[in-house]
Amino acid sequence: MTTLFQRIKPFLLAPEMSERRIAGVLESIKETYTTKRTTLEEKKWSDKEVSAYASFYLPTNYQKFSTLMKQLPLEIQAQLSTCEVIDFGTGPGTYLIAYIDYFGSKKASKLIGIDKDRLMLSQAESLLLGLFPEAKNKISLINDTSFIKSEDSRLLIFGNSLNELSVDKVKDIITHFDPQYILFIEPGTPTVFDSMTDMRKWLAQQEFACFYPCPSIKHECPVAKRVSEGQEDWCHQVWRGVHDEEVERLGQIAKIDRRTMPFIGHFYGKSEVQSEVSQVRFMRFINESKHSFDWEVCLLGSEGLSLLIFEIPKRGLSKADQKYMKKISVGENFSYEVMKKLSDKRWRVSISF
Ligand SMILES: C[S@@+](CC[C@H](N)C(=O)[O-])C[C@H]1O[C@@H](n2cnc3c(N)ncnc32)[C@H](O)[C@@H]1O
Repeated sequence: MTTLFQRIKPFLLAPEMSERRIAGVLESIKETYTTKRTTLEEKKWSDKEVSAYASFYLPTNYQKFSTLMKQLPLEIQAQLSTCEVIDFGTGPGTYLIAYIDYFGSKKASKLIGIDKDRLMLSQAESLLLGLFPEAKNKISLINDTSFIKSEDSRLLIFGNSLNELSVDKVKDIITHFDPQYILFIEPGTPTVFDSMTDMRKWLAQQEFACFYPCPSIKHECPVAKRVSEGQEDWCHQVWRGVHDEEVERLGQIAKIDRRTMPFIGHFYGKSEVQSEVSQVRFMRFINESKHSFDWEVCLLGSEGLSLLIFEIPKRGLSKADQKYMKKISVGENFSYEVMKKLSDKRWRVSISF
């Protein structure tokens, strides 16, 4: 089977780069991302850097899209497949490519990538038109957003771009585009969590519902509350898995771990579909003992959202469910029945997915 890396390679701006050269450039990009944000704002990409980003960060970031989509109700997924899609800070087209691979391009009304960097836009154009020639008439790659007008419902995506913009700028962009749905896939850091806390409060005022990961947008986030009380904490998800062999090799040479990717993925919408589909979400893995799995969960109760520990006995779980419990990620929802309230903050429960 053709890997995503193999599909991308012929359409890179610098397709002749060797594996070692790509890995060398990746190491220098990594340094840019660990320096100050002002450096990021001013960053101008070269064709080799853009190609290295598209060879490695595109296929790894891409994975987070389907992981997150699978957590959404099927009715919402059906609506997303017919939307106009705007990917803000699209880079090499990462989340437009992920969107088309997941939903197909037939039903989408338009697919728009916006980026301020000229070379990133050329890379996105080369990849999208190369990979999806049949969608040519729907695809636009632009850096000027002022003329975009639409009557269609919209999905607005921020993929690692909230991180590069201020929260106020992102609020202005949302106001300008007036989307029905918003997807954020951002780095899983405490700084981004603080920005998302601010975004979430503002989106609640704009009458958006949260479909993932919060069980409710109407109540204060219990993790943000902890932070405001001086504790160090942040809510984030972790993608765990193995990539295509070419991408794995690049990661090994450049010494960048993408098998474990912390990220902050949030999905908001204005929709008739019931958002509070689940009263509870996995929040953080605590411990696996001989007898149980312990997870911290975010629970919607009569007094709002709270954090407590669910002790899930292994005895009631099939071998397959035990295996699944080892792989589940933060934000997943499930049904549960309380077996015993061991204390206010610790319940023994049985669960089903
Ligand atoms: C880290 S890259 C993310 C690319 C892609 N979304 C991904 O997740 O793989 C961030 C992108 O945002 C773009 N960007 C940053 N500030 C922007 C702005 N004010 N307007 C448009 N694009 C911007 C950068 O040029 C860069 O291509």
